[in-house]
Amino acid sequence: MRKIIFLPESFNVKTHKPQTHWMIDAALFAGFLVSFWLDLTGVSLHQWLGVAVAALAGYHLLAHWNWVEAVTARLFGQTSGQARRYYLVDAGVLAGFLTILATGLVISTWLALPLGNYAAWLNVHIVASIVTVGLVVLKIGMHWRWIAATARRIVSPPAPAGKTAPVRPAPAAGRREFLKLMGIVGLAAALAASNTLDSFTNVQGEESVTEESSATSSSQSSSSKTAVSGSQSSTACVIRCNRGCAFPGHCRKYVDSDGNNRCDLGECA
Ligand code: HEM
Ligand code: HEM
Repeated sequence: MRKIIFLPESFNVKTHKPQTHWMIDAALFAGFLVSFWLDLTGVSLHQWLGVAVAALAGYHLLAHWNWVEAVTARLFGQTSGQARRYYLVDAGVLAGFLTILATGLVISTWLALPLGNYAAWLNVHIVASIVTVGLVVLKIGMHWRWIAATARRIVSPPAPAGKTAPVRPAPAAGRREFLKLMGIVGLAAALAASNTLDSFTNVQGEESVTEESSATSSSQSSSSKTAVSGSQSSTACVIRCNRGCAFPGHCRKYVDSDGNNRCDLGECA
């Protein structure tokens, strides 16, 4: 027997104006992109922002729940190719968001789990973010006509009923509009992904340097991320992170045992 989920009226896509949906989608995309700039937000705000973006994505999904139910029921039966494509991309985006949220919580300062393979979890978090932003760009490309038409309604709203407005035919969404939208969206996503790729390489660099340091100094524990100190000889001292953070640092590994307001992992004193 098919289970029917009753959602409150406020979740129904049809009860909202398209303009409201447009704003929600834009906020979702903007929040998602800002989450890539950890250097800008710091870890604490990043975590809250990530949860807020995931919650907004959940709302967005519930708002389209009727569509999801209808297409799910007919996915292997009679439904259009377009609906199947949308469904496939949406499923990918959902899987991406769930992976980002789950790995984010595992590495979060909230749970502060004693992870032996922290870098591996962080890498999955970063790779999932990059793949998902690519899928979101694809999704935006698939909905570009709706996005462009609704943006036009926001900029110049239709005259209220009863008032006579000068008859002005609405310009059809054209190739140039598509290129403009995808240019802005694609550039923003590429900037976010490239900023993260930089961090991804940093994490790999940190890992290999940590291994190197454990090989050169047997007295130093390989899992310890805080072992570099000014008291060590300069030959044993290795730069473990090339970000050179000043207080409060960009990640939870920030440590300043010599109290000079710079992360010890990025300096040899
Ligand atoms: C940054 C993230 C996202 C953006 C920018 C975005 C954008 C959009 C846009 C522009 C539409 C069409 C217009 C509308 O009615 O709102 C749409 C529809 C839809 N979205 Fe998203 N979305 C995002 C994330 C998600 C997530 C995580 C899901 C979860 C599965 C999802 C599921 C859906 C569904 C089911 C539809 C209706 C079917 C369709 O047309 O694809 N979206 N989204
Ligand atoms: C929209 C969702 C999210 C996106 C796109 C995202 C993306 C990223 C990216 C790209 C990084 C690496 C940044 C860098 O090192 O410069 C990162 C790191 C991190 N994220 Fe997220 N994230 C999201 C949600 C979350 C959530 C919900 C949490 C936890 C509740 C979280 C926790 C963390 C933590 C702890 C780090 C590592 C900080 C460090 O040690 O360097 N993220 N995230």
